[in-house]
Amino acid sequence: MCGIVGAVAQRNIVPVLIEGLRRLEYRGYDSCGVAVLAGGEPHRARSVARVADLDEQVRETHLEGVTGIAHTRWATHGAPVTNNAHPIFSRNALALVHNGIIENYESLRETLRGKGYEFVSQTDTEVIAHLIHSLYRGDLFAAVREAVQQLHGAYAIAVEHKDQPNTVVGARQGSPLVVGLGEGENFLASDALALAGSTERFIFLEEGDVCELTLERVRVADRDGNDVQREVRTVAAYGGAVELGPYRHFMQKEIFEQPRAISDTIPQADSFDASLFGDAAAKAFGEIDNLLILACGTSYYSGLTAKYWLESIAKIPTQVEIASEYRYRDSVPNPKSLVVVISQSGETADTLAALKHAQSLGHKHTLSVCNVGTSAMVRLTELSFLTHAGREIGVASTKAFTTQLVALFVLAATLGKLRGHVDASLEADYVRQLRHLPAALNSVLALEPQIIAWSEDFSRKENALFLGRGLHYPIALEGALKLKEISYIHAEAYPAGELKHGPLALVTEAMPVVTVAPNDALLEKLKSNMQEVRARGGELYVFADSDTRIVSEEGLHVIRMPEHYGLLSPILHVVPLQLLAYHTACSRGTDVDKPRNLAKSVTVE
Ligand code: F6R
Repeated sequence: MCGIVGAVAQRNIVPVLIEGLRRLEYRGYDSCGVAVLAGGEPHRARSVARVADLDEQVRETHLEGVTGIAHTRWATHGAPVTNNAHPIFSRNALALVHNGIIENYESLRETLRGKGYEFVSQTDTEVIAHLIHSLYRGDLFAAVREAVQQLHGAYAIAVEHKDQPNTVVGARQGSPLVVGLGEGENFLASDALALAGSTERFIFLEEGDVCELTLERVRVADRDGNDVQREVRTVAAYGGAVELGPYRHFMQKEIFEQPRAISDTIPQADSFDASLFGDAAAKAFGEIDNLLILACGTSYYSGLTAKYWLESIAKIPTQVEIASEYRYRDSVPNPKSLVVVISQSGETADTLAALKHAQSLGHKHTLSVCNVGTSAMVRLTELSFLTHAGREIGVASTKAFTTQLVALFVLAATLGKLRGHVDASLEADYVRQLRHLPAALNSVLALEPQIIAWSEDFSRKENALFLGRGLHYPIALEGALKLKEISYIHAEAYPAGELKHGPLALVTEAMPVVTVAPNDALLEKLKSNMQEVRARGGELYVFADSDTRIVSEEGLHVIRMPEHYGLLSPILHVVPLQLLAYHTACSRGTDVDKPRNLAKSVTVE
């Protein structure tokens, strides 16, 4: 999704800005641009191709400057054309980049038109540029502070003005923005990752903050206009660009990294202790009697899986809700709820807003399960559990999902123990099963050649149905999501028992039906559902545990999973579905790591 980089320095800053954009590329974008102050006015280059094209342009045109801002845009208002690409100018005096959405842009545009401002793009961003310009009286920091009072919606902005050649001003509300501190130079970015190589010292701006960067100084004001000192944090872990190694795509690499990611996420200790979730967890866990899980997309499906664990292991009532729904509906807050937000990035706009909404309703116990320790979500919650998936570059989430599942299983076991449902022997059993997971996953990954063979069939289909029951219904949902988002094949998932209540009407020989078939208590029921499909000529593709006695025959294809893994089985069963989606997408020739219309970190609602 959109990315921002900005800098004030005493050297040509364009290579730093371009490198920053490169580091944000994996998030998905459809245009990009850079603007510097030089010779008393802003100059820019913009491209609807890749950052590499922008780089070529700036080299050819010798675009250079010591103060600059840059952007990758993921179109919301206005098509991805050069005219809508950022930086957006106001009267050739001011340049601005923006992440987020301004909800009252139409009324602001009318007011600004009345003041003689001409609009040349279809973006909501252009109103911010003109608004700040209209308020500028020689102090950009003051003009931005005044302007943001009039903005409704979410934004992170970086702005520069020709009359202040060594100043960049930033502001954030609802979208992330960090300041990077250098020696005689300072930086701004939507993600600290963009500034790896330039600095390791960061200020993570708070909601409503406005900042002013000059060569020697960074000034931050809070939403009330008071100057504030924000904590400076050292983040050394960002390192260089992630290498693809022997893999064809990042998604494939990340699927194969899962044994390592899971092993890094499993707690070292031999017991499930509340302290794994933070110092305040023991007290908080003692005060709750239910869970409310909020998340989006794949992270929502990990929450759905966790519900089964939490209710069966910890016997604690659990509700799971899509964040974008929860934030806008009337709900009945329960002070005894633990609100759990699940997110790979920790910056997803809907999940963040749902968390804040829950807090505004009086929920005081909150926990984030997140892959980014410095993210807004982790900073906002009382408790946290970090997954250690490492950076996930592919837009389609894979290792983030399985590590979330590990974290949520640990949560269920910890609450189960605290509530007297997990005794010492069961605890030791769970620890042993967790520790064996990486090895079990390696055996599942070895199924890749068989899955490649199936993917040839799938690549010629336009629809697919996924079935699962119980704990594995969310895994079927995740399998369908993976297939549709990267191969563009329409896929839907159903709890297998629902088949006869409608979707069976879709089943013909043209409809592949992927079935997740673990050897659990629901197996015989699932087999009956499979019969219903076969009787209508539907072709079944079944991932069956080795001891299920489901054998291949006409219209029934079976890949045998190495072992049945009890309650942790969803973590194994999702992997062949990831591989099926991946290889089907490869056969169809789609852009696997950057599927059309999608972005990695969804920082707008
Ligand atoms: C799908 C996918 C998305 C994300 C969703 C939430 O493969 O990656 O559905 O899961 O956008 O993102 P996070 O987990 O960063 O909050």
